[in-house]
Parts: sequence; structure tokens; C-alpha cells
Amino acid sequence: MNEIEKLIRPELRNLKPYSSARHESNQQDLILLDANENPFGELNRYPDPYHTQLKSALANLKGLATNQVFLGNGSDEVIDLCFRLFCTPKQDSVMVFTPTYGMYEVLAQINDISVIREPLINNQLIDIKSAKASIERYKPKLLFICSPNNPTGSSIPIRDIEALLDFYSGVLVIDEAYIDFSKEESALSQLSKRKNLIVCQTLSKAYGLAGIRLGIAYASPMIVQWLNKIKPPYNISTINAQAAFNRLAQKQDVQNEINLILQEKAHLENELKKLECITYVYPSQANFLLIETPKAEKLHAFLLSNNIRVRDRSSLIKNSLRISIGSPQENKQLLKTLKSYEKESIIYR
Ligand SMILES: Cc1ncc(COP(=O)(O)O)c(C=O)c1O
Repeated sequence: MNEIEKLIRPELRNLKPYSSARHESNQQDLILLDANENPFGELNRYPDPYHTQLKSALANLKGLATNQVFLGNGSDEVIDLCFRLFCTPKQDSVMVFTPTYGMYEVLAQINDISVIREPLINNQLIDIKSAKASIERYKPKLLFICSPNNPTGSSIPIRDIEALLDFYSGVLVIDEAYIDFSKEESALSQLSKRKNLIVCQTLSKAYGLAGIRLGIAYASPMIVQWLNKIKPPYNISTINAQAAFNRLAQKQDVQNEINLILQEKAHLENELKKLECITYVYPSQANFLLIETPKAEKLHAFLLSNNIRVRDRSSLIKNSLRISIGSPQENKQLLKTLKSYEKESIIYR
């Protein structure tokens, strides 16, 4: 048994996965009477369970092999499958670096896995020494690193990821949902030398396809093979795979949108810093800005009463709001509303 197989939940090691009819033979032009489908219509057939065409487009884009690509129904499904593959309920633990994306804890709870929380230094950086000590003590099966991090927007430097990988023998899952907005190098560069690394990305953010639910895990062929064994057979629909494939071909359009969002972020950040009602703007490598304000609940309600919804993150960082970068028009409206809030706050102070 190799090192990765030792990390798989023992009760899964002998799993005989569901074998889907569509995957048993590649022969074309068959009369298909094997899957109880309706013979009429355009979407009457089950999809390719492995979406080879889409995976090879993603592999080309990232300079990887097709067997290093796994697809999930959003990266939330990918993360859930990581729990199911590696963690035995009531027994294993995972480590997260707080404050961070809430789904790691939600999925841990659903899968009955305990969570070790390591606070980020100044809400931004991993304390490597402390993380190492906790890893030694609790031996978590998985480490979740969100980079750029939601909700702070900070990136974890690649040298810190390397430092952890040098030391850690469990599986490190790095969630790069916002990587396309970041200046920091992706951990994909580590994949060729690390068997225990899973890099999660998504088409929900920079690629503008949150509606289709397409998440990706890039990992060693061994991990991809195991994720394939435990996934629901048809977790990606034909329509969604096609939409994703088409979007990947629009490389320049995607890049233009990213550039515009980054330009808008820089402008918004500048303007927010000028406002008295905003006491801190977190430096962000993502497509959102986290701000601190003396009365977050009040500002949140004011924005909502002016038809603008932002995310109150005060449960994670006191008096903080997370603001996504919208269109130029939406950002202008936001700034206008914030200025009117400031005026009102001064009048009623
Ligand atoms: C850090 C992070 N990971 C994953 C997700 C979920 O991505 P998906 O839409 O691919 O499920 C989000 C969504 O907000 C996120 O912020």
C-alpha cells in the first residue's frame, strides 16, 4: 500500500464503485438500451461520467495531465468528497486556519469530523511554528488552506505552503477559489513533486459561472482516481460541462473581465480608504474587500435599505463587512450610498 492509500478511510479501501453503463464501453453508434433512458429528445442520455473533453481542456490550460483533474458539482462538492475519502467519522480531525471560508466547518460537522482551529497571524498569515506543533499533537487527516482567503482576501505565500508540505504527511487541501485574481503563485506548481496535495479551483468566481456549479480538484492521479470512485456517477450535467467547455475557450474575455474587476477593486479600495466611516480596508488578492467600520450592523442595514447587499462578517472579525467587487455602475452606486451614510452619521452623531 502506498502513502496515499494508507490515508484513505480503511472502510473504503475495498470499495467496488458503481459502474455506470456509459463508461463500460467507448464504442460509438450503439443502440443504447442499457440505462433506462427515454429514447427521444436532446438531453435524454446520461452524461459522460468523467467528462474527458472538459478535463483535457482544463489540463491543457494548467499544463497538467488529464488524469490529474477531478470535477465536482462546485468546489463545495469537491471539499465534501475530500472529507468522505480521508476522514473516518467520530475519529479523525481536520485543521483550518481562521477566520476562513465557513463550509470547511459545516462539512466537517455534517461528516462528524472534529476541527482544529489555528488562528491566522493578524487574520492574514499562517503561524508555521504553531501549526507544526498542532499537527504533531492532533495529527489531522486534512489541512484546509484558503488562499486567497475568504473573507480577508490575503494570500498565503507559496513558501509557507512548501514549508507545511515538507513537514506534513496528511493531505493538504488548498482552496484557490480566488486564485485568478491573485498575484501570488498557485500551488499547482507543487503538484509534480507532492502526492499529498489537492488544489481546489472553481469556475464560480473569475470565470463567471457560479450558476453551473463546476469545481475542480487538481491532484495526483492516485487521488483523482479515488475521488472518481466515490463521487456520484453523474455529478456534472451535460449542459454544465458544455457551458464550462465553451467558457474555457473565451480566454481573452475572461482575462478582460478579471482586469476590469481588478481595476475596479483598486479604485474602490482608494475611495473606501477616504471615508471616515471605514476604519480599515484589508489588502485583498481576491475579488472582494473586507472592511472594518465602527458599527457594522448599522451600515449593513443602511446599505440593504438602499438595495445593496454586502456580507456581514462580524461573527468572524468584529465589525467587518465583506464587499464583492461589482460592475462599475454598481460600485459607483455603493460609493454614493456610503457617502450618504457618512453624512447622516455625522448629522446624527
Ligand atoms: C474559498 C471558497 N471556496 C469555495 C467556494 C465555493 O465555490 P463553488 O461555487 O465552486 O462551490 C467559495 C464560495 O464563495 C469560496 O469562497
